[in-house]
Amino acid sequence: MAKPVLLTLLGLGLTLLKDHRPSYEARLKAFQEVEPVQPANCKLVKGIETGSEDLEILPNGLTFISTGLKYPGIKSFEPDKPGKILLMDLNEDDPTVLELRIIGSEFNLSLFNPHGISTFTDEDNTIYLLVVNHPNMKTTVELFKFQQEEKSLLHLKTIRHKLLPSVNDIVAVGPEHFYATNDHYFTDPYLKSWELYLGLAWSYVVYYSPNKVQVVADGFDFANGISISPDGKYVYIAELLSHKIHVYEKHANWTLTLLKSLVANTLVDNISVDPVTGDLWVGCHPDGMKIFHPSNSPPGSEVIQIQNILTEEPKVTRVYAENGTVLQGSTVASVYKGKLLIGTVYQKALYCEL
Ligand SMILES: *[C@@H]1O[C@H](CO)[C@@H](O)[C@H](O)[C@H]1NC(C)=O
Ligand SMILES: *[C@@H]1O[C@H](CO)[C@@H](O)[C@H](O)[C@H]1NC(C)=O
Ligand SMILES: *[C@@H]1O[C@H](CO)[C@@H](O)[C@H](O)[C@H]1NC(C)=O
Repeated sequence: MAKPVLLTLLGLGLTLLKDHRPSYEARLKAFQEVEPVQPANCKLVKGIETGSEDLEILPNGLTFISTGLKYPGIKSFEPDKPGKILLMDLNEDDPTVLELRIIGSEFNLSLFNPHGISTFTDEDNTIYLLVVNHPNMKTTVELFKFQQEEKSLLHLKTIRHKLLPSVNDIVAVGPEHFYATNDHYFTDPYLKSWELYLGLAWSYVVYYSPNKVQVVADGFDFANGISISPDGKYVYIAELLSHKIHVYEKHANWTLTLLKSLVANTLVDNISVDPVTGDLWVGCHPDGMKIFHPSNSPPGSEVIQIQNILTEEPKVTRVYAENGTVLQGSTVASVYKGKLLIGTVYQKALYCEL
């Protein structure tokens, strides 16, 4: 029974293939050596050992970090423990992390599998944290209110929708309004071993609001990180396996129009935007094969900074690169007052001076 089903799916898959896709070795950067780049004074963050998959720094330096992701086919150091949301204050000299208590009778903590996160601050300065969650390998988006005094997150709501089947990352544009990337890879783990090789274009981006949910961009091999420019006019989407950062114009009706795409020489994962300069900071996988196929040699880490992305000549700088001896599988990087915080899928986090 399994075989005909697989063949049918394979046939279907092949018809979805984009023309002229480069080989999987090229897409996964299978044989790329990592040329090291090291900023000054990098320190591992104490208390982070099981991932820092996504992080968001608020304008005041408080930082939310999701840890403990269980992603199909990717390593986890704590496969049987639920994930957590950590808080870090980057104003401290030697910042450490604190686990935020989660409050809410509707929320099943034992199934918490946090992935992409995003915050939204309203006019009353209430801070909402939106978290992509994968309870039992499904996808929900959890809405929390941050209670700073109590160091807790009050669970307000669980959002599910058929257009949010396998979400990777989100960017909030309101407490219950967000753009989300559907990467596909949570829905069918057993297909994953070979489907990555095909370069299928089945990943898409959705705009969600309580009244309207719609696909606003599609045709991606693996839509991953998503972020928005400080003025709210542009949405940036990282397409992991084609190494592209796409720039979309955001319209008043929330639809997106592609303006341009920038090609990087690395697998681009999460994007964070510096609220002051508008620069993009991208956590990358310089040797992507190793992240999907763990071997004796661990995956490396890389961070790129993109300046002036809207101009004719954006400037791309490799700010950090390392072969995995220190930091394995970087996914995200963000800056605060001359410091750079780098997160990883399943391992540690690194804090450097720029
Ligand atoms: C949470 O999920 C676990 C695993 O499915 C289940 O055993 C448990 O009863 C759930 N707890 C609550 C409070 O729903
Ligand atoms: C949304 O706005 C854009 C830009 O004004 C327009 O081109 C597009 O047709 C609109 N789409 C819908 C569905 O209204
Ligand atoms: C990684 O880089 C370090 C420092 O440059 C070097 O000592 C080590 O041999 C490298 N490891 C691999 C597996 O290339």
